[in-house]
Amino acid sequence: MSYPYQLKNFEDYQQAWQHSVTDPEGFWANVADHFYWRRKWDKVLEWDFKQPDVKWFTGAKLNITENCLDRHLGTLGHQPAIIWEPNDPDERHRILTYRELYTKVCQFANVLKNNGVKKGDRVCIYMGMIPELAIAVLACARIGAIHSVVFGGFSAQSIADRIQDAQATLVITCDGAFRGSKDIPLKSVIDDALMACPSVKKVIVCTRTRTPVSMLKGRDVWWEDEIKQVETMGNPPVPAEEMDAEDMLFILYTSGSTGKPKGVVHTCAGYMVYANYTFINTFQYKPGQVYFCTADIGWITGHSYIVYGPLSAGATTLMFEGVPTYPDAGRFWDIVDKFRVNVLYTAPTAIRSLMGFGLGPVNHKDLSSLTTLGTVGEPINEEAWHWYKDQIGKGHCPITDTWWQTETGGIMIAPIAGVTPEKPGYATLPLPGIQPVLVDENGKEIEGNGVNGNLCIKFPWPGMIRTTYGDHERCRTTYFATFENLYFTGDGCLRDEDGYYRITGRVDDVLNVSGHRIGTAEVENAINMHAGVVESAVVGYPHEIKGQGIYAFVISEMHVKDPDLTKKDIMQTVARIIGPIAKPDKIQFVSGLPKTRSGKIMRRILRKIAEGELDNLGDTSTLLDPAVVEEIKRGKL
Ligand code: WTA
Repeated sequence: MSYPYQLKNFEDYQQAWQHSVTDPEGFWANVADHFYWRRKWDKVLEWDFKQPDVKWFTGAKLNITENCLDRHLGTLGHQPAIIWEPNDPDERHRILTYRELYTKVCQFANVLKNNGVKKGDRVCIYMGMIPELAIAVLACARIGAIHSVVFGGFSAQSIADRIQDAQATLVITCDGAFRGSKDIPLKSVIDDALMACPSVKKVIVCTRTRTPVSMLKGRDVWWEDEIKQVETMGNPPVPAEEMDAEDMLFILYTSGSTGKPKGVVHTCAGYMVYANYTFINTFQYKPGQVYFCTADIGWITGHSYIVYGPLSAGATTLMFEGVPTYPDAGRFWDIVDKFRVNVLYTAPTAIRSLMGFGLGPVNHKDLSSLTTLGTVGEPINEEAWHWYKDQIGKGHCPITDTWWQTETGGIMIAPIAGVTPEKPGYATLPLPGIQPVLVDENGKEIEGNGVNGNLCIKFPWPGMIRTTYGDHERCRTTYFATFENLYFTGDGCLRDEDGYYRITGRVDDVLNVSGHRIGTAEVENAINMHAGVVESAVVGYPHEIKGQGIYAFVISEMHVKDPDLTKKDIMQTVARIIGPIAKPDKIQFVSGLPKTRSGKIMRRILRKIAEGELDNLGDTSTLLDPAVVEEIKRGKL
């Protein structure tokens, strides 16, 4: 097997990109022709960025799991689909062939049906990184239920918000999850969340950690018992539900600059085609290779590049339950050696943290199986890029620094490994189908090279966001209203003299902490829940390992007697409201915040202070009380 639309050299790329711009419909129809459709499309693309209203492959009928599973059974039935490496290196790994994965997905699809799930129902999935998570996701897709996976690090409150927003009727979870030396009690977190979620009628609990859990009669059932029931029914086959191209496939919640996280909606056909095309091309995956993406399926990277992209390509995808530093900082490299991994896709924050352990954990590892390295989630600094290239790739593996977002569904700007040029710190060139533009604050396009601006995309691509669940207006105002007729990414970007793109970071109030997106407003809301807090302002600052750290300026009600204790309490509050990933790294108590006369917090000033640029605060004359700035400067942590 080979991939007819895999680009082989730079000329191929240039031609494909040109074709995708001059004839986008023809270009994507050629790609889409290689999938399994119950019925082909009437029209490739209809679009209007004003509404926004974007439809790909209208009229087509399909089921994404037939493309990820059924169509491979004849040729790849005995090939590994998923290799699973447990948290504890002494526990046995598992391998699921395409045939086995198919069988398990059908079984669990039956379980979902037996528990009343129907096409269009929303199912919330809150599990650790075990194969059953991928099985649950695919089983939802098989019967046309819309999955909403919530990362296992989120708090009960965050889960409840997401379940309520989506009105999910069923939750799939585990007793617990192993992550490094920790054991996270997932089911007990779900129990707390569900107190506020009357829409949920059933909870399916998969056994993993054997942590004691309480099972609510009539609501909670065990995964294993349910599977047994299906087996006694004789494993009735589950024909895949016939889905419309634009039926919803999943919702994935992500942070924005205001209020609560929003449910980014992806639909069946366009997302499938885009995840597959970008997987095959960016990583230059070759049939039979072992591909290892270290992300969690709770994030978009896991959706597109552990599950849907690789499986639709008939690839072998490696799922790892644990963390890079457990039992030691050589764990990734051990896994690469154990399974002869060819393609490794990870986050700059992981690379930086592993760099910190020196070469001890890398020396004596073979790593010769690696052909391609990728990064995602945040800008990669040159030092980390070179370390990855030289120490891990031994100088011969291309590195693809992939820029994209939950909203884009798949990789947008990235070197195509070994096919298009790479440049440390740069995402380089757009993939075929992607038309990036830089605009100034008035939305005027900035042409030419050697320029900086707001990164926008001016033409639809199949994997793009269709709406934000339950609130289309929010989708319009967030992404399509800032600049007319453009999708606005929220990122700042440089296009250098060679025309290569370098993402410089968010231009809105969204932080990127260890590659996780966190809204400053969300963290502020959580901090303000603490009884002693009057007001707070949160900004990011450069952090050696996390990329960005969270700096909170907090006004407390009374004089803080024991600041360390209060800080701990505030951190605890944030962990409880959002999750440990959103805990501030620094908390500074202040008596006031720099505000304009109209009451708006001047974050620019706080950002400068947090970054340590105390002498360069710009104009503070418009502030209500300029003296407060001096006080904040004196107290800087
Ligand atoms: C940032 C992750 C620089 C960016 C797939 C974007 C990056 C946000 C890169 C989306 C990269 C992602 N270089 N910045 N290669 N990749 N980002 O939704 O700010 O979790 O807007 O999607 O991460 O984060 P999200």
